[in-house]
Amino acid sequence: MTRRKLVAGNWKMTGSLAANRALAAEVLERLPGHLPCDVVICPPPVHVAAVAEVLQGQAQLLLGAQDVAAEADGAYTGDVSGAMLRELGVRYCIVGHSERRQHQHESNLAVAQKTQRALDAGLTPIVCLGETAQQRDAGWTDWVLGHQLDAVARALGQRLAEVVLAYEPVWAIGTGQTASPAQAQQVHAALREQMAQRGVAAERVRIVYGGSMNPANAADLLAQPDIDGGLVGGAARVADDFVDIVEAAGRSAMPGAGAMGKLE
Ligand code: 13P
Repeated sequence: MTRRKLVAGNWKMTGSLAANRALAAEVLERLPGHLPCDVVICPPPVHVAAVAEVLQGQAQLLLGAQDVAAEADGAYTGDVSGAMLRELGVRYCIVGHSERRQHQHESNLAVAQKTQRALDAGLTPIVCLGETAQQRDAGWTDWVLGHQLDAVARALGQRLAEVVLAYEPVWAIGTGQTASPAQAQQVHAALREQMAQRGVAAERVRIVYGGSMNPANAADLLAQPDIDGGLVGGAARVADDFVDIVEAAGRSAMPGAGAMGKLE
């Protein structure tokens, strides 16, 4: 089963309106045509409409959001609904990023509700899971990820197969300390197994890696059999670096890619 690779750039809360419009235009200009992978950029929420204008009239570079409301509509000050995002042309939506779990105290239940709302609105949720350094050191990685996945699985049932999962070890985010390809592969395979145990068509589900992915380490990570793409933070703010990672994903998806994800 070949899964289409996905590379998504999470711009987090960075950049001015002008800078983010320019970055979107630059990524679009440098992106090679006909790549065998999906490419998404997720600007800050107030810049989504402006970036949508930059991306108008093409289908190569897709628009994503960094979060979505847990409710569909109504008196929820400050929230942005899935329908509002969809109306702007948003296709993907990050849900449950560890920064939101930490700073906005998002619970597993809230993450599950948001995932459901995203699907209901026609968005593909990118559900983030990951353990802290202390949890990894204590040998709790599988348990923590299982717990995070459980809440989403209970809410979605068979629709769990429609999400993208992002394994983002908290200790690797913004630290320059990437999980090794073997470490990440081991967790991705375990996550896929956990999905299968829940009766979901796990071989169809894309599981992407996030945490200090950059042009130097992307090819090795993306060559792993269960790593279906990347969720990129810092390197997504440099058009050349982001496009390098996209190209590595494209190469790893092509028939004849070597063990390192490079065409020989
Ligand atoms: P970095 O690539 O900056 O480590 O961020 C990863 C991330 O949090 C993507 O969502």
